[in-house]
Amino acid sequence: MASSVVAPSRGVSPVFGRARARRRPSCSAITVDVSSHASDVAGAAACRALSFSQNVPSDRSAFAKRAHVAMKIENETTSLTNKLRGAEVGYEDVKVVLIVARAPASSAQYDIREFDPASLSVRDGAETSLIVGSLDINIGDRLPAEELAGTRSLGRRAYLSNVGVAPAARRTGVASRMIERASTIARDEYAVHALYVHVQHDNDAAIALYERSDFIREARETAAAESTLGRPARVLLRRDLRIHQP
Ligand SMILES: CC(C)(COP(=O)(O)OP(=O)(O)OC[C@H]1O[C@@H](n2cnc3c(N)ncnc32)[C@H](O)[C@@H]1OP(=O)(O)O)[C@@H](O)C(=O)NCCC(=O)NCCS
Repeated sequence: MASSVVAPSRGVSPVFGRARARRRPSCSAITVDVSSHASDVAGAAACRALSFSQNVPSDRSAFAKRAHVAMKIENETTSLTNKLRGAEVGYEDVKVVLIVARAPASSAQYDIREFDPASLSVRDGAETSLIVGSLDINIGDRLPAEELAGTRSLGRRAYLSNVGVAPAARRTGVASRMIERASTIARDEYAVHALYVHVQHDNDAAIALYERSDFIREARETAAAESTLGRPARVLLRRDLRIHQP
């Protein structure tokens, strides 16, 4: 399944119809696709390695950092490929849909040196593109890693995961557009009523993004769970999706 949407030049919500000003000018050439193409999967993996690169220990040499990123890209490519095929352990009953945001590689907006080479997606018959953002929609009755589960479990449930935008493409509305696309797909193609996402309580940028995209806070892990799990507590956010009545 592959579809393409030319993103609007301002942040317009097709689901909720609200126009939003952006802090930086958006790249009108960006498109938001559903994809399972191997080159896009590798590009999404590279985007994730760039997006979450704060996890690379700062005392490493440039070579060690590069090796760390390459290993992350390889592992994520394998995991994502398996999830999309329904072959990842723990995801056998979960439908995973990959959304990628791409810009033409020829776009003057980005400096290619700010991206990993794996961010370049080459597909037959299509212009070479740069994967600048990606997320997964996980759809199922029971989802992995649900210690903090949503209460609105009528019908199928959907969770967003791995929401990430390459640093060079941030604050231009890329994540907002991917979330709009994910919301429309979950609602219209999978009859999902409520879209969930987890976020660490101290990730201010992501929380601002989700609240701006009409998510509301539903639950928060307790301080006891935080200490037991040895990581910052997570907040569970929910966006209610309108299902059109016939
Ligand atoms: C969080 C993240 C996905 C946002 O992506 P993005 O494409 O820059 O987000 P958008 O441009 O669509 O931002 C939409 C709104 O979210 C809020 N927002 C996004 N980033 C923000 C930041 N750094 N600080 C404050 N608000 C922010 C703003 O309200 C913004 O609207 P505005 O630009 O008009 O003010 C990106 O910063 C990222 O990849 N971070 C690292 C990975 C991560 O933490 N992912 C979330 C895991 S749950």
